[in-house]
Amino acid sequence: MQLVFASNNKNKILEIQSMLPETIKILSLEDIGCIEDIPETAATLEGNAILKANYVTDKYGYDCFADDTGLEVESLNGEPGVYSARYAGEQRNAEDNMNKLLEALSDQTNRKAQFKTVIALNINGKQHLFTGIASGTITLEKAGNQGFGYDPIFQPEEYEETFAQLALEIKNKISHRGKATQQLIHFLKEQN
Ligand code: IMP
Repeated sequence: MQLVFASNNKNKILEIQSMLPETIKILSLEDIGCIEDIPETAATLEGNAILKANYVTDKYGYDCFADDTGLEVESLNGEPGVYSARYAGEQRNAEDNMNKLLEALSDQTNRKAQFKTVIALNINGKQHLFTGIASGTITLEKAGNQGFGYDPIFQPEEYEETFAQLALEIKNKISHRGKATQQLIHFLKEQN
């Protein structure tokens, strides 16, 4: 079985390939000659994951999956959500994004937040959605230097550390993306 992962992130592609049986071959966008930017213009994470997966299936004819992730902060009505990457502007800078979020929560006592990953899979003419959630809180200040994005200010439930202070193997087990990916892998293994 050949399946496109609508991503150019080589680490993500290698990681998921290593978790699947060899009979399922994951192709990147580069592998299928898709070099253009795929529009991500939907107002929801689900919408963007679906847009990306459908683009590849409709235009290139492959079975495909795509993911989209956002950080949803309860007291900000779910913001930055689908706009997480460019919360502080089109420069998409992680430091700027974290500073803006810490500022927005400066006098907030409710600091609950969740990361959410949605994966849309198009396979054999059908679409399936998988969702992974990591619940936690936004810390008062940054801590740790591993990971990326909002990791230094996100403390997952039941941990004393931020994502940026946890070993990658631990983060992968409890993270939004890890949970959504495990569901996808379980589903694909059953199909295989
Ligand atoms: P993407 O959909 O995976 O590109 O994620 C969108 C944005 O959400 C990223 O640019 C980051 O700002 C944020 N994000 C996604 N996953 C994580 C994570 O695991 N830790 C911290 N930030 C994340």
